[in-house]
Amino acid sequence: MANLLRPAKQAAAIASLVAAKAAPEGFLFPVRHEQRGTPKRRSPRGDATTDVIVTAHVAGNAEVFEQVMNLHVPPGWMVADVTFGKGVFWQRIPLNRYTLHASDLKTGVDCRRLPYADGSHDCVVLDPPYMEGLFRRSKDHLAGAGSYAAFRDHYSNGEGTSIGPKYHAAVLDLYFRAGTEAHRVLRVGGVLVVKCQDEVSANQQRLTHVEIINEYAKLGLFAKDLFVVVRKNRPGMSRVIKQEHARKNHSYFIVFLKTCPGRSVRARATARPQRVAEAAK
Ligand SMILES: C[S@@+](CC[C@H](N)C(=O)[O-])C[C@H]1O[C@@H](n2cnc3c(N)ncnc32)[C@H](O)[C@@H]1O
Repeated sequence: MANLLRPAKQAAAIASLVAAKAAPEGFLFPVRHEQRGTPKRRSPRGDATTDVIVTAHVAGNAEVFEQVMNLHVPPGWMVADVTFGKGVFWQRIPLNRYTLHASDLKTGVDCRRLPYADGSHDCVVLDPPYMEGLFRRSKDHLAGAGSYAAFRDHYSNGEGTSIGPKYHAAVLDLYFRAGTEAHRVLRVGGVLVVKCQDEVSANQQRLTHVEIINEYAKLGLFAKDLFVVVRKNRPGMSRVIKQEHARKNHSYFIVFLKTCPGRSVRARATARPQRVAEAAK
């Protein structure tokens, strides 16, 4: 509770941020009320509405990313997108809303070794290659050959992996190391947005999102929210004799909160953004 503001002070802080256009109208700023020490998110005095952000979307990444950011990342935050790629995620986000540091292996920055100080960022966005076919020793064996070259170009840096684990273990290794590095550069209360997709590897069902959530929990990254993105078009399969598993046509945005060691999960889940608390002092 130490970092929760009293309602009057909080209302003044929010009003001043809105007046300063730091929180544009319509943005879901985390407003909280205190009653006997417990933060309340709903009250009989609140409105009944279906105009809420929901978890599952038949949509493109840019549309869902916009919803993720609107709900979890307040304007003015310092954000590092460490696998920026072609910047598709940012297509619907006004450029002046955040201080954005965009990097990618293609620009010479490895998400496992970021050039940022400890605790320097409010939010990190991570979307590395999610399928084992994009981690092959030989460049010629990477997924997305021939007419699928655009797919390879978008989802990987187009190079073979010379060392480290292979196949699905290579996918996890990158997510885990990048998660450790994101945890380092995030401040306590900061948000990590991770994009991932499950896969069937060597005929085995690998629920990548579960594997990531379990591993990140050990780092002190608490899974606060999860969005499902369902492809608008119908995916195909090649060389099918008998189908064993349902073809994946969905992926995830997972929202993690960097927690304070020793605090309860409830306290972690309701932790207020540090910047807002500071603004109200
Ligand atoms: C799925 S794409 C990212 C797409 C991006 N989110 C967008 O909106 O366009 C994966 C990206 O991860 C990058 N990448 C692969 N390994 C990386 C690493 N070790 N560090 C940083 N970026 C990496 C690739 O170059 C590629 O641009």
